[in-house]
Amino acid sequence: MRVVYLRNGVERKIKNFYPWIFRDEVKEIVGEEGYIANVFSRNGDFLGRGFFSKSHITVRMLTSKDEEIDEEFFLKRIRKARLKRDFSDDQSFRLVHAEGDFLPGVIVDKYKDGFVVQFRTKGAEALKERIVSAILGTTNASFIYERSDFETSSKEDLERKKGPLYGKTPEVMTIEENSLKFIVDIAHGQKTGFFFDQRKNRKLVRTLPGKSALDLYTYTGGFALNLAASGFDVTGVDKSKDDIEIAKENAKINNLKVDFISSDSFDFLRGTSRKFDVVIADPPSLIKKKSEKKKAISILSQLTNLVKDVLNIGGIFVICSCAYNIDMHALIESMRRGIEGEGLVWNILNITYQDTDHPYIAQIPETLYLKCIWARLEEGW
Ligand SMILES: C[S@@+](CC[C@H](N)C(=O)[O-])C[C@H]1O[C@@H](n2cnc3c(N)ncnc32)[C@H](O)[C@@H]1O
Repeated sequence: MRVVYLRNGVERKIKNFYPWIFRDEVKEIVGEEGYIANVFSRNGDFLGRGFFSKSHITVRMLTSKDEEIDEEFFLKRIRKARLKRDFSDDQSFRLVHAEGDFLPGVIVDKYKDGFVVQFRTKGAEALKERIVSAILGTTNASFIYERSDFETSSKEDLERKKGPLYGKTPEVMTIEENSLKFIVDIAHGQKTGFFFDQRKNRKLVRTLPGKSALDLYTYTGGFALNLAASGFDVTGVDKSKDDIEIAKENAKINNLKVDFISSDSFDFLRGTSRKFDVVIADPPSLIKKKSEKKKAISILSQLTNLVKDVLNIGGIFVICSCAYNIDMHALIESMRRGIEGEGLVWNILNITYQDTDHPYIAQIPETLYLKCIWARLEEGW
């Protein structure tokens, strides 16, 4: 096991449950073996144990106790995570959200009685067997499937793996959310197959006024189907042809009519002469690093500029960002810039976040990543 000694004062944030120890906060590392490190303050006080990594985040803390990081440890954490989630109507949700559930680098999504896991750090990957045993020990899992084939800019040196870890994974399955059915392609869908973080926002769009709606970046029809279910005439757009095919199937199995189009969102907006009462835009994360924030603001303001041409005055725009580095203020700045000089204003009606199965811990700012601004397009004075 490695031993990590911190610089003076760093212990304070650790004692307040911030889990990341950056390289420049480390005074000395003793030992060269293993993915678990014991962490001590400059004065030699034991602070706890965490995942060790050679990336710029040297340790991701797991516990302040002198306890084994074994199957029993993961079992207790997963049980605790389950108790926090009360989606009584939905059998499918995010069961473990990494740092938000004090399990850095571990994602577990529950698809009915099956589980899709992602290991995002070297430590989590190294202890994969214990984590899988803990999932089996605390649930009646029919299958566990790994989707660690994600894109990242991190220097973690991880293998991009995917495949079955337990049981027989169905090629596709149908889950239910807010009384709507969604087909999920476990092995080929984006991320782990479904974007659970937007659940409550998808439900909220049903309360919006209007007759016609456009769902940009629709994926398999998440917002579009909720809008159609509440009586909107809906168009859904995504550049992924495969996901648009699933979206069309999703409309069919829910007896809903939606016009799903496979296209780049900007191309669609430039090419259409239609007007809508509601426009949703839930783009992919756009940037991975803080240094790219300007680029993201520029893309989002271009998007806003195109959206204002297809949105009726008095219509509602819901713009989301799932990048931690594009905060709420950057998102609002993009909206403001997007209509500058047009004689229009955005009246912000609501700001919403990721659903509660993706916990936002105040002590860990990085756990808040998804935000959506709900604004009405109005004439200025
Ligand atoms: C965060 S997901 C959207 C999730 C969706 N709103 C839901 O509720 O399930 C982002 C989507 O944007 C799509 N996408 C990425 N770039 C695109 C582009 N330039 N034009 C259209 N769609 C794009 C991806 O294929 C992906 O489905």
